[in-house]
Amino acid sequence: MPRKILVTNALPYANGDIHLGHLVGYIQGDVWVRYQRMRGNTVHYVCADDTHGTPIMLRAEKEGITPEALIARVHGEHLRDFTDFGVAFDNYHSTHSDENRAYAEDVYAKLRAAELIDTRAIEQFYDPVKEMFLPDRFIKGECPKCGAADQYGDNCEVCGAAYAPTDLKNPYSAVSGAKPVLKTSEHFFFRLSDPRAVAFLRDWTGGTNAAGGRRLQAEAANKMKEWLGDATTDENTLSDWDISRDAPYFGFEIPGAPGKYFYVWLDAPIGYLASFRNLAARRDDIAVEDFTDGHRAAAAATEMVHFIGKDILYFHALFWPAMLQFAGYRTPSQLCVNGFLTVDGSKMSKSRGTFITARSYVTQGLNPEWLRYYFATKSNGTMEDVDLNLDDMIAKVNSDLVGKYVNIASRCAGFIAKRFDGKLGASDAAATGDFEAAFRSGTIAEAYEERDYGRALREIMRLADLANQYVNDHKPWELAKLDGQDARLHVVCSTALTLFRDLTRYLKPVLPALAAKVENFLSIEQLDWQDTWQPLSAGHAINAYAHLMTRVERKQIDALLEANRESLAPATASNTKTSTKAAEHSQQRHAEKQQNSAQGAETAMTHISIDDFAKVDLRIARIVNAEHVEGADKLIRLQLDIGETENGQIKPRQVFAGIKSAYDPAALVGRLTVMVANLAPRKMKFGLSEGMVLAASDPDAKTGGLYILSPDSGAVAGMRVK
Ligand code: 2FM
Ligand code: ZN
Repeated sequence: MPRKILVTNALPYANGDIHLGHLVGYIQGDVWVRYQRMRGNTVHYVCADDTHGTPIMLRAEKEGITPEALIARVHGEHLRDFTDFGVAFDNYHSTHSDENRAYAEDVYAKLRAAELIDTRAIEQFYDPVKEMFLPDRFIKGECPKCGAADQYGDNCEVCGAAYAPTDLKNPYSAVSGAKPVLKTSEHFFFRLSDPRAVAFLRDWTGGTNAAGGRRLQAEAANKMKEWLGDATTDENTLSDWDISRDAPYFGFEIPGAPGKYFYVWLDAPIGYLASFRNLAARRDDIAVEDFTDGHRAAAAATEMVHFIGKDILYFHALFWPAMLQFAGYRTPSQLCVNGFLTVDGSKMSKSRGTFITARSYVTQGLNPEWLRYYFATKSNGTMEDVDLNLDDMIAKVNSDLVGKYVNIASRCAGFIAKRFDGKLGASDAAATGDFEAAFRSGTIAEAYEERDYGRALREIMRLADLANQYVNDHKPWELAKLDGQDARLHVVCSTALTLFRDLTRYLKPVLPALAAKVENFLSIEQLDWQDTWQPLSAGHAINAYAHLMTRVERKQIDALLEANRESLAPATASNTKTSTKAAEHSQQRHAEKQQNSAQGAETAMTHISIDDFAKVDLRIARIVNAEHVEGADKLIRLQLDIGETENGQIKPRQVFAGIKSAYDPAALVGRLTVMVANLAPRKMKFGLSEGMVLAASDPDAKTGGLYILSPDSGAVAGMRVK
C-alpha cells in the first residue's frame, strides 16, 4: 500500500532572510519528499511563514509599514528563495490566515473543554512609554552577578548567569529606552503539568514511525527523558505553558478575551495544518481530516512528519503533540531533527561573510544543486551539526558530480549521436549486473528512508566508480578509431548510458533539476523507483547531449563570501565589491531615481511627494559621546544611539558633524537630537560617517549661529521622525 504522508518544514519567521543555515533542514525535507514520491507514495509537502509576535510587530513599525505589508513582502522573498533551491512545497502559506485562525481557535476551545487551560495573574516588566509588556529579549540592564552593562533579560552574555528580567540592575526597555515598571496582567496557560499530559508525552516519545523506526531520533528521545522525568519516580519537570500575550501584539486575539492574543508559538505549528487545509481547498484529491482528525480510523493510515531544527525540538516534542492530542487531533508520526550549520568549522559570521543568504548565493550565480549535493553528503539522519567546509564542497562537487557522474555521459553520448543516428544499441548484461544488484538490495532506498543521505550518496558514488571503470576498460574513444568495432562501440556507449540513467535515478531526490535535464537528454519518462529493472532498450532514440553541470571555482566562493561580508562601504557604481545589502541598496536607489524622473516635471522643482519625504529615515538620536577631531577645524565626532544593537549592546553610529564652531563637545553628551539614518555612509579622512545630524543655520551667515535640533521631552532614541 502506498503511504500517505503530510510532510512539513519549520515555518521561518517573516522578518528575516533565508540563509544557508535554514537551508540544511529544508533541503533534507525536500530530498525525503522527492524520494518518497519516487517510491510511489503520496506526499503533501507544506510550509508557511511564521508571521506573528512582537519582533515582527516592531520590525514593521521600524520600517514604517504595517505588519501585514511586511509579511506580504517577506512571503514573496521566502517563497522565491525556496523555489530557487528546488525546495518545492505544494503550498507555502501564512500563519496570518483565516485557516490558521480557525484552527487556533478550535484547538484552544477544545483544550479549554478538556480543562487544560488555566488563567493566572502574572507580574511582568512593562514599558510605560511604548505602553507594552516587554518580552525578555527586549529588556536590558546590568547583570545582577557581574555587573556587565546592556545584558538581556534572561541571561548574561559576559558571565553566563541565568536570571529573571526582574533581577537585572537598572533595567531599561530595548524598545524605547524607558525604565520598565512591573505590572500585573492575566495570562492563559496550557496545563502541561497535568498528569494526563505527562503520561501521554512519555508514551508518545517512545513510539515508532510508520517505517518501523523510532518516532524521535535517539538524541531527541534522550532529551525528552530529561524533560519528562521517569514514570517510576514520577518526577516531572514540565511547567504550564504561557500561551497568551497582551496587546499591543501582532497575532490572533483570543476569543472571549479582549486585548489578549495567542502567543506566536501557539499558532505557529498550527500553521502546518492551516497550510495543508489551504492546499486542500484547491485540490479535490485531499481529504484533510484523514490526516488531521485524531478520531478517524483513516488518520491511523496516514502520517504527519515534521522536519525541524534542534533549537525548536522543545516546542515540537512537548507542546505541539500535547496540544494536538488533547484537542482531538492526530499527533505527529515522526520528528526529523537537524543540527545547526557551521561554515569552515565555525558559527556563521557576518564579519567573515559566512552568514550567507540564499539570495546572495543565487545572485552570485552559484548553482543551488551544488549546495543540495554537498548538504546531502553531510546529512546522516542525526541531530549532529553540519559543517559546510567550502574547499571540501568544491572538491566533492567537482570530483563526484562533474568528474565521476557527468563524465560518463559526456564520454559516450557523442558517439551515439554521430555514429548511430542518436539511437541506442543493446546493453552489456555483465556490466549492468552490479547496478541491478544494487537496485534489488535496496540499500540506497533504505538510506534515503532513514535520511542518511550521506550513506546513500557514498553507495551511489561507488556505483559511479564502477560505471567509469567500465568505460575506462572498454575505451569507446579507441573503439571508435578501429575498423569493425562499431557494434562493440554501440554496446559500450549504450551500456554506459543505462548505467548513467540509473545513477541519475538515485541522485534525483538530491538533484532534481539535473535529473530533469538528463530525462530530457535520454528522452525517457520521469525516473522513479520502479519495481523491476530494465536497461534502456535497443533502438531507443536519445536527444543531443547538452552540457549538464559546470565545475565550482574557488573564486566564485570567494566572491560569495565577499558579497556577504558585512560592509559599510558606500554603495557606488564604481565600487565593484559592494556587499549584497549595499548592492540592493544601490539597485533600490536606481529604481527610485527612475521613478522620480518619471514623476511630473512640474512638481519636480518646487515640491516633493510625500513618498519622497518618507524615504528620508529621520530618527531621534541620543548623543552618547562627542569629541574634537584632531586636524579638523569644523568637525565634532559624535556617537549616536538610535536604538540599534548588536549582540545585545547598543551599537552607536559615528557621525562627523560640522558644528564645532557652535558647540563644546562635552555639552552635547546625553542630549537628544535628530539624525538622517539612511544616508549612504561616507568615508572621510577621519573615518566613516554613518549619517547626518540636522542643524538650523542662517543661510546668509549673518548671525553665524548653528543650532542642532532637539525633540520635545518624552521622545527617546530610535523613534522615527515623520
Ligand atoms: O524558530 C523559528 O524560526 C520558528 N519560526 C519556527 C516555527 S516552526 C512551527 F512551529 F511553526
Ligand atoms: Zn554577568
